[in-house]
This record gives sequence, C-alpha cells and structure tokens, in this order.
Amino acid sequence: MSKDLISLDELMKLGQDAMDNAGNKHRPSMQEKDLQVATYQMPIHLKDSMQGKQYSILTYGCQMNEHDSEIMAGLLQEMGYTQASDVDEADFILFNTCAVRENAESKVWGEVGRLKPLKRLNPGMIIGICGCMAQEEPVRQRIQAKYPQVDIVFGTHNVHRLPELIEQAQQTKEAIFEVWEEAQPVLVENMPKARMEGTKAWVNIHYGCNKFCTYCIVPYTRGRERSRIPSDVVAEVEELAKTGFREITLLGQNVNDYGLDLKTVDFADLLEQVNRVDGIDRIRFTTSNPWNFTDKLIDTIAHSKNVCEHIHLPVQSGNNDVLKRMNRSHTREYYMELVDKIRSSIPDVALTTDIIVGFPGETEEQFLDTLDLLQRIRYDGAYTFIYSPRKGTPAAKWEDNITMEVKKDRLNRLMELQNQISLEKNLRLQGKVVEVLVEGVSKTNPDMLSGRTRTNKLVHFKGSEKRIGQLVMVEIADVQTWTLKGSLLEVKDAAPNR
Ligand code: 5AD
Ligand code: SF4
Repeated sequence: MSKDLISLDELMKLGQDAMDNAGNKHRPSMQEKDLQVATYQMPIHLKDSMQGKQYSILTYGCQMNEHDSEIMAGLLQEMGYTQASDVDEADFILFNTCAVRENAESKVWGEVGRLKPLKRLNPGMIIGICGCMAQEEPVRQRIQAKYPQVDIVFGTHNVHRLPELIEQAQQTKEAIFEVWEEAQPVLVENMPKARMEGTKAWVNIHYGCNKFCTYCIVPYTRGRERSRIPSDVVAEVEELAKTGFREITLLGQNVNDYGLDLKTVDFADLLEQVNRVDGIDRIRFTTSNPWNFTDKLIDTIAHSKNVCEHIHLPVQSGNNDVLKRMNRSHTREYYMELVDKIRSSIPDVALTTDIIVGFPGETEEQFLDTLDLLQRIRYDGAYTFIYSPRKGTPAAKWEDNITMEVKKDRLNRLMELQNQISLEKNLRLQGKVVEVLVEGVSKTNPDMLSGRTRTNKLVHFKGSEKRIGQLVMVEIADVQTWTLKGSLLEVKDAAPNR
C-alpha cells in the first residue's frame, strides 16, 4: 500500500477549503479520494518558544479524547511548556471537550466560567477549547457571546495546528476560531505524544464514524471514517514495545471498519500484524460495532495469542423497534447470534456493552426487552446512559417524551440488574488463578497494588512496588461487583527492560 504524502501547507489549504464549504457540514458523504498522509514537523521558531511556561489540559469524554490530549501535551512540551501541577498556575489552559451527552458539556461551561476572574488577574493566560464541542456551531456562538475569556477554539481536525494558534493568540486580543468542518482524507503522522507513564498505551488506528446512529453527535464532530496505514500503526507499536510498554489499546470509533477505505486490509489483518510485534503482551481494542464483526475477525481474535479476551460490544437497546429508530444496523436476534459465535470461538471471553434508556418513544415493554437481553447475554459489565438529545442529530427533532423520572427509574433498574450479573460473574472467579498486568499502587489503598486481568477486570493485591510493569499470577480470594481481591502467587514474566 502506498502513501500519498502531502505537505502541511497543502493540508492547510484543504482545511481552509473545508471551512469555506462549511454549509455542507452535515452531509453524510463518503470520501472517495485516496488517503493522503502529511508528516508533522513543528516550525523551528515555535520549538522551545514557551520555555518557563506551564500548561494544563482538562480532558472530558472517551479514550480517543484522552489520547488526543497526550498528543497535544506532546506538542506543548515540544514548544517548551511543562505541565502545571495546579490548573490555576497554568499559563495555558486547554479544555478537550466531549459532546456525547449534555452533562459532559455542562461541566465544561461551569469550569470555563470559573476561569473568568482568574483571567482578569492574569491577562497573559491563554484559554483554549477543543474537542467535540468545538465542532458545534451553537457552542462557538455561545463562546463568542458569553465567554470573552476564551482565546482559542479549534476543532478535532485541527489538533496539529495548536502551536501556531497559541502563537497567534499571543499577538491578538480577538478570540481565534479554527474549526475545519469536515475531515479531509488526510492523516497527520509523526506528531509528538506525551503518553501517561506506565505499562499501557493507546494507539489510534481509525478516525471518525460513518454510522449515523440517530442519537449520536460523533459522526458530525469527528467526520468520516479514515484508517491509518497499517505500517504506520505497526511502527508505532514497535516503538512502544521498545520503550517498555506491554499493553496497547487500538482506538477507533468503529475499529472493525478499519481498512474499509484502504480496501486492501481489514481489522483482522491489522490485529494479526500487531500480534506479531515482540514485547507487547496484551492487545486490546475499542470500540467494536456489532455490524461488520466478521467470522474472520472472531477467528483472528481467538487465535492471536496477545489479543485479550475482552470485547466491548455496544448494543444500545434490546428492542428491535428502538434499534431501528436508533438506526443501528443490527437486530436483537443478529446481536445474540453474534454473541453466541464469539463465545463459542473465544472461551471465557468477557463482554461489556453500552445501553441507552429513555430513547424517544421507548415504551415500558420495549425497555423490558432490554432487561431481558441483559439476562440472556449476561454481560461482565455495562455502561448505561440516559438518552440526551443532541442538537443536529435526527433524534433531537423527535419529541423527547419520556419524563426524567421514568428515565431515572429505568436506569436504576438496569444498573441493579447489571450489578447483580457482574457480581455473579465475578463470583465464578473466586479461588481461581488469573494473570494480572501490574499497573501501579492502588488508587484507593496505598498498601495494595492494582492491575488488570486479560478480561479487563481490576484486581487488587499486596505486593512490592517492584512488581509494577510485570505479569504476575494472582489467586482470587474476594470478589465485588467492580473489583477482585487476591494474593500474589508468582511472577509470570518480569518486564524485559525494567
Ligand atoms: N445520549 C445518551 N447516550 C449516548 N451515547 C451516544 N450518544 C448518546 C446520547 N445522545 C452513548 C452510546 C455510546 C456511548 C459512547 O455513549 O451508548 O455507545
Ligand atoms: Fe455514535 Fe453510532 Fe458512530 Fe458509535 S456507531 S460513534 S454510537 S454514530
């Protein structure tokens, strides 16, 4: 597969064209052009230009956003910034926002509002807003009208422009808005990344979403699907292995659509290639869509030694009418059959899911179908959400006719059932010996270490800090709904370069 390389200047021109064509922004078009790749290089005069200054990034939302923040931290560090230990001491404060539900947005408005007096005391401070909220026109209007303390607003396709935007913000008092509405089929490779220290790392493989579920803002904020070239992904994973990371999570809104645009490779092929990288012991991926979860993919997961036995497979609802109105491309029956296939090929696989309650028009009977599905599938865990209308999505035009009281009641019943199932599933692990990758000292108890099983269950146990970064065997003694407790039996594999 060849890469069509373009320069950052050419990319800038494409982005400007996209801004000029912003009227078409909600057009669910597929990009027919071939993927082009631009290699990032920071302009020389911006390197180390901010020495002595501090930054703070506040991240909301999904793992994609967490990883974008690592990239932006990498850019800022290359500019000479260091990370502030306290937000209020930072010279540059960046909000990397999420637009998936209203409460994520409300938190950001609250925090940005809080900075107004701080900015008055420190007028040299720069405040930026990026991420999914920045892609929304009403959000930008609100910032312009009510939040004069904000200096820079940039979109999900403009991350690589952060250094130049900071430079501009220093030279002007006006707020700068740079939001490219539709992602070009161009990926910027080679951006610096300041990854969280530890044993595990995120790796982007696929950007955007073409699914247009009727409740979801993501296709509008993240643009059309684009896949990274497999050799770029593998090179990044090899580099991570060399620097001592033992676990990687491949990221995308729909990882199993990986390669549809490249046409010569699919997600199963990529998993197989990544599985061959020496030094990486565990490979995870998120998020999978039940659609396009092929037999080949199931087989590859089953036979790739380092690919972990955990699949996050959002179902959203257990009722076919609701699924249809959500524009999910699966039915309840298709989904249950897929789960059967996965379970028969990958013994002891852990399954988790996402579920929305209170979608417009969801009746009590339809909700009971979701409870019934939970009973039948018996997930290891579920992320459960109250439906939140998102402006610009089809469902937001439908009457949000379920009262908050009913929505909350459904959410509680759903969580109660799922907690009971999660506990029952964990109870089956009591007395068993599991492999744990030790991540660090427990966040809740400094006398304990924590790590995860291959099935992504959190385990606490006593042990020396020397074990951090090692693969160990732990015998499970106590189980709770969310965590397991056990005792260390032996070290399975100490990290080679620690
Ligand atoms: N309201 C509530 N939950 C939502 N999700 C996406 N959009 C909405 C919305 N408008 C949930 C879905 C998705 C998860 C990441 O967030 O369950 O899988
Ligand atoms: Fe949103 Fe559906 Fe795309 Fe997931 S698959 S990001 S829920 S539109």
